[in-house]
Amino acid sequence: MIKKIPLQQFKIGMYINDLNLVWSTHPFAWQCFTVEDEATLNKIIASGIAEIEINTALGADVALANDLVQSINETSSFAPSLLITRTPAEEFEHAQKLYGNANKMMQGMMQDVRLGKQIQLEQCEPMVESILDSMFRSPSTLLPLAQMKTRDEYTFQHSVSVSALAVAFGRVLNLPRIEIKEIALGGMLHDVGKAKVPGRILNKPGKLDDAEFVVMKNHAANTADVLKDVAGVSDIAFKAAAQHHERFDGTGYPQGLKGEDISLYGQMIAIVDVYDAITSIRVYHKGMPPTEALRKLFEWGGTHFNPRLVQAFIKGVGVYPAGSLVRMESDMLGIVRNVVPERLLQPIVQLIYDCKKMSHIDPRVVDLSQSEDKIKSHESFEKWGIKQAAWATAENF
Ligand SMILES: [Fe+2]
Repeated sequence: MIKKIPLQQFKIGMYINDLNLVWSTHPFAWQCFTVEDEATLNKIIASGIAEIEINTALGADVALANDLVQSINETSSFAPSLLITRTPAEEFEHAQKLYGNANKMMQGMMQDVRLGKQIQLEQCEPMVESILDSMFRSPSTLLPLAQMKTRDEYTFQHSVSVSALAVAFGRVLNLPRIEIKEIALGGMLHDVGKAKVPGRILNKPGKLDDAEFVVMKNHAANTADVLKDVAGVSDIAFKAAAQHHERFDGTGYPQGLKGEDISLYGQMIAIVDVYDAITSIRVYHKGMPPTEALRKLFEWGGTHFNPRLVQAFIKGVGVYPAGSLVRMESDMLGIVRNVVPERLLQPIVQLIYDCKKMSHIDPRVVDLSQSEDKIKSHESFEKWGIKQAAWATAENF
């Protein structure tokens, strides 16, 4: 039987009846073939097609596709910035300060909201501009830093991280910088409504009960309430923030908007918010490795999220995002240092550990486009007892 399925349901073992790609532009020898390995699957995902035609008489069917995508190997899509004037170590130190200052600013702003004071946009806007500058210059520097969060400061750090990720997302969608800035501002402010949620609910270790969950959910409407009175908040920033819990299939809140009734900006922040939330270490759970989180988003494309936007986001941050730990075919472990847009499967990696010898090595940076070695899989820092934070220092850049 021939059927058309969304790419998210495609898996190894299926027979492609039609790739729906112009023959001369795709990297495959045939339009019809069985996908037998991860590398081919990754190439198909990287091609950006939304749907694929399969023949279930010649290959696996969708019903068997529970483990949808084994791994998606792709990296970021940033044009190299012409503005780099710092060494990587200087850029790292700059990003570290920026992250700290932005967190403090958010902390102060949420305190103001708690006390019923108005948000001072003139404090927030320069910080968002600095995040834009940093992300346009060197996205691989700020993003891994923003992924590391402390328990006490989670809400502020999450806001800054969402703002930075929104810039990465806006860039891959080729939006104008001025529009990206407004989305990033909306990302920064998306959770200000949480200032009205009591701390015992906000920071509760463990699951919220039904009543607490209702209070927690109110934060999205609270955010809209706070922002509608702030002079100078653009429609883009407002929608990005106020709609961040709406879901593509209409199951979100506060308005239960569906599909394209949710603005592009709200849809973007929804994806970014969930990605950052599930990759962060929280009071009640460990962070999910970024590669796994991206796979989850991929699964939710078509239900919670617009599948095309999910694909674009994955291209924006990379399947092996900067800062993640990867295992090479040579059995070395390395940290992804730079995602390179033109060579999606070949980031720049800092090798730090030899799995065969079970020992650290003298760290060395390898550009995988210049190496025979390839990434085999992602790995968890925890499993190998490697401290992520210890490797996020200026000396390692
Ligand atoms: Fe939220």
